[in-house]
Amino acid sequence: MSTAPDITQSFIGRPQSRIDGPLKVCGRATYTTDVDLPGMLYAVPVGATIASGRITSLEFAAAEAMRGVKLILHRGNIGRFYRISGNSIDTGFVDENRPPFDDDVIRYYGQYIALVVADTFEAASAAAAAVKVGYDRTPHDVSATLDAGKKLDVHSERGDPDRAFDDAPVKIDENYVTPVETHNPIELHATIAHWNGESYTFYETSQAVANHQGTLMQMMGLPKEKVRVISRYLGSGFGGKLWMWPHSLLAAAATRQLERPVKLVLSRKMMFQNVGHRPTTQQRVRLAATQDGKLVSLQHDFVNHEAIDDDYTEDCGEATPSMYSTPNLRVTGGTVKRNVGSPTSMRGPGAVPGLFALESAMDELAIALKMDPVELRLRNEPKVDESSGLPFSSRHFVECLKTGAEKFGWSKRTPEIGSMKRDGLVLGWGVGACSWPGLRFSADATVDLRADGTARVACGTQDIGTGTYTILAQIVAEHTGIPLDRIEVGLGDTSLPLGPVSGGSAATASVIPAVSDAVREAIKTLLARAAKTEGLPFAGAKAEELTLSGGHVHRKNERPESGVPFARILEAAKLHAASGSGSAKGGFDDPLKKKWSIHSFGAHFAEVTWQPATARLRVSRVVTVIDAGKILNPRAGRNQIEGAVVMGVGMALFEHTVYDERSGAPVNSSLADYVVATNADTPKMDVTFLDYPDTVFNELGARGIAEIGLAGIAAAITGAVYHATGVRVRKLPVMIEDLLKA
Ligand code: MOS
Repeated sequence: MSTAPDITQSFIGRPQSRIDGPLKVCGRATYTTDVDLPGMLYAVPVGATIASGRITSLEFAAAEAMRGVKLILHRGNIGRFYRISGNSIDTGFVDENRPPFDDDVIRYYGQYIALVVADTFEAASAAAAAVKVGYDRTPHDVSATLDAGKKLDVHSERGDPDRAFDDAPVKIDENYVTPVETHNPIELHATIAHWNGESYTFYETSQAVANHQGTLMQMMGLPKEKVRVISRYLGSGFGGKLWMWPHSLLAAAATRQLERPVKLVLSRKMMFQNVGHRPTTQQRVRLAATQDGKLVSLQHDFVNHEAIDDDYTEDCGEATPSMYSTPNLRVTGGTVKRNVGSPTSMRGPGAVPGLFALESAMDELAIALKMDPVELRLRNEPKVDESSGLPFSSRHFVECLKTGAEKFGWSKRTPEIGSMKRDGLVLGWGVGACSWPGLRFSADATVDLRADGTARVACGTQDIGTGTYTILAQIVAEHTGIPLDRIEVGLGDTSLPLGPVSGGSAATASVIPAVSDAVREAIKTLLARAAKTEGLPFAGAKAEELTLSGGHVHRKNERPESGVPFARILEAAKLHAASGSGSAKGGFDDPLKKKWSIHSFGAHFAEVTWQPATARLRVSRVVTVIDAGKILNPRAGRNQIEGAVVMGVGMALFEHTVYDERSGAPVNSSLADYVVATNADTPKMDVTFLDYPDTVFNELGARGIAEIGLAGIAAAITGAVYHATGVRVRKLPVMIEDLLKA
């Protein structure tokens, strides 16, 4: 049975195809590397082939003599750049602070040492390969074994965790290791820089055009209005494209000297060297409980590697203090320097490796207690955030566990190792919880209701493929009843109102208040005109008695169809558009966080199949339940969690970047050698959103969903591996060598 569509039906919470989808599948979406400007030149960087030392000589004669070569940049001729003062998400933030070619010191393999610019990409590549470099080597350290000694900072503490641990009847004390992971979005990082004699335009693969602009203006020593950054479509980023990397400045220096547009596209190999990665982490988790499964002590210590010159903390303990109830807790963290390019945020930074450790430890504690791992979590559900004493804005973690268990069929699980079988395969079932903070950043937006019957909404945020274009259109549609195909969305350009980063799962929550205010103001302008424009059927009405719904202006007590299409109001009033603007503040120091603990929660249930005779392991089925507030677009939302689950299969079983101890280079630096999960590895997935609006956080109650799905899934899978095989893997990824012990 079908019902006629109701034009007043909510646009929020409706499964909606992405409005940018047709452009993408028809090849009409202009990605950064599609930009082709008249007179454009091509730049290819030269990277160091040692990981520590000094450049003693650079010879360009052969390269310069090659056909089509226009310029070779190096330390002697690149010109001046500045370091940014005080990383700030509002004014400029980088994970690699050193301007390119700033000194002769090499601190990691692949560090840029020269740039060749030529007529064609091929000519530039050939000339870059012909640059001869002399080095004075010093010993490098890319070791994956980290020892921070005693240099750990206390991140969170309550009670006396040492004594409670010593006195407890049941305890576990284990170490967990996660490897370096490389983001590997399919779209390569790229910059097209164009100095036109007056100002710069940068086409960038950026998850944060406003931040990129702020960084460039500081590092180039220019006022903001001289730098425009555009990033209209992205082939994903996973955090690797959040902050500017040095290649953007290389392209800037080249166009500055040549006064022609310069295109610089990184190779896949360079993407393993120069644009960040998730650092390797080592974590120790100590848990202690009473015989009936009440946690009495939780200690979580973590260390991550970082670059020689830059500080980067992978905050593995972010979720730990508020996840479970325990009177005694300590979380500590530290870093160790390595000769690697700077790590950076990668999907769920901190929480993803952190919850692999914590959730694995919870599984191990459940086994030590002979208790069901779901039941152990239910017994330790906190009433408030015990790290701060603050109430949760909205927490439905228990319901995530119960709903997931129900959908998965968890009650049929028999806990003995290898005890479950299907079709001749051994089954393993595991569970892992996830959490991610609710974040929001500052945003401005404008909305125009236009006389041609369309609307436009603009905000200088980006869409990394997750559905931001669609979300902005949905918010405008929700307030106006204008259908999505008549709403134009402008994103990804610093000439638009300031927008938030596409990061921290925060874009949606950041834009909601700004776009909502902007559209309300535009409607107010429209209704005021409707009330006082001659020739319309609202004679004698006050603006407050009118409303806009279903795309029609009408009296509040009447049906939309009885009113007038909004375009006709604008025509009658001789207006091109009724416009409004909105603005909202946010940030890491959001005052709301002084009153509320704001987090999303979830639970993954994973099934693996295991064939001992051939040591064949598959993740066959995953049920995920997510509590992330109101889901504005369940279709795009489900896609994000499904994508995260597939990425989680990769995290658990495949992904790891290996550094060659001899050269210091990431060796598996290609998509052939860095194995990610593909369609063939994709389990049967069932994603459920609880959909409780978090109205403390914003009027629509959405918290954001991008990153949370990758947290906890690896622990659910390794828990399932243990259940099937009896092998507990505490160092990711699970290797076939580990399973041969089964
Ligand atoms: Mo995400 S790591 O904040 O792009």
